[in-house]
Amino acid sequence: MTAFLVTGGCGFIGPSLIARLLADRANIVRVIDDLSTGRVENLQRVAEIETVAAGALRPPRRRIQLAVGNITDAKLAEAACRDMDVVIHLAANTGVAPSIEDPRADCLSNVIGTFNYLEGARAAGVGRFVFASSGATVGECAPPIHELVPARPVSPYGASKLAGEAYCSAYARTFGLATVALRFGNVYGPGSEHKESVVAKFIRRAFAGQPLQIYGDGAQTRDFVYIDDLTRAIERASAADGVGGEVFQIATARETTVGELVEALSTALAAEGFPRPRIEFLDRRPGEVLRNFADTRKAAALLGWSAEVSLPEGLRRTVRWAAQAAKKVPAIS
Ligand SMILES: NC(=O)c1ccc[n+]([C@@H]2O[C@H](COP(=O)([O-])OP(=O)(O)OC[C@H]3O[C@@H](n4cnc5c(N)ncnc54)[C@H](O)[C@@H]3O)[C@@H](O)[C@H]2O)c1
Repeated sequence: MTAFLVTGGCGFIGPSLIARLLADRANIVRVIDDLSTGRVENLQRVAEIETVAAGALRPPRRRIQLAVGNITDAKLAEAACRDMDVVIHLAANTGVAPSIEDPRADCLSNVIGTFNYLEGARAAGVGRFVFASSGATVGECAPPIHELVPARPVSPYGASKLAGEAYCSAYARTFGLATVALRFGNVYGPGSEHKESVVAKFIRRAFAGQPLQIYGDGAQTRDFVYIDDLTRAIERASAADGVGGEVFQIATARETTVGELVEALSTALAAEGFPRPRIEFLDRRPGEVLRNFADTRKAAALLGWSAEVSLPEGLRRTVRWAAQAAKKVPAIS
């Protein structure tokens, strides 16, 4: 069994990942999170947690230990990595829009924060470091994007994630730390209610009876990957042999327009008894990539991973979960 440190474990991806790790490979999971967007309750849904002060980390007494703190704190990073076998670094500024509003804050969290945990992992002799990167590193290019496409980020968020990938590469090649950078597609699924990603926002608005807002004409494309597929990929990356220093696209290899997403979501909403949502078209946003989907053959070859959950099925599960979480019942028409 293995001791995992998961930064950013109280958000969307963290709790699902931790549930999977505890079921399969982890005896304990330590979480560092500043609760800026995450919530303790998200973790409490997974297992009983022990909360400790960031300045007083000790060997965990429960299966999940949480210390509230910021990843820009280098001393905390050093202490948090001690006695850990695997670090999974999820904590970050997670969006394009906030990175445009405040590029400095994005840089501090995503570049310095990642650097701190690589340094902590190196000092502690951690065996594996998995970094949550993003397709946004590559920027505007003719899709499908893959690991050999030259990266030219459009947004500060893409740039800061690319810097994280660069440090992962350097720590693998210079210090022998087995880093694996995973470029997630557009992740959706249960637990994403707080997110500003398109699926989460559309479901929130549909539940509130508000129109779904499309920036541009709806022809922009994304690669939507379901949370269970994603956490399975992270688990594989935390254990697979011979992948130190590598980068992987983790997505479905399917290109879906936002217009098609609206159709599929409307079907999933209808299956739960919700009326068809209205649509509102707004101006295109700066920094937004027009077409984006990934070639995932490298992950299939080296991690033995590919996505399994179809978009209609994933949306059905997500809508059902969100309706239960919000205690929403469809309006009687
Ligand atoms: N969700 C997606 O579609 C997606 C796509 C590509 C990449 N990613 C990456 O995956 C990771 C996890 O994303 P998520 O969707 O779970 O996001 P999230 O916002 O739900 O979770 C991030 C967690 O990190 C914490 N956090 C943020 N800044 C922190 C800081 N400075 N110090 C300590 N904790 C901090 C937050 O409180 C939150 O609990 C991020 O690195 C994100 O960039 C996500």
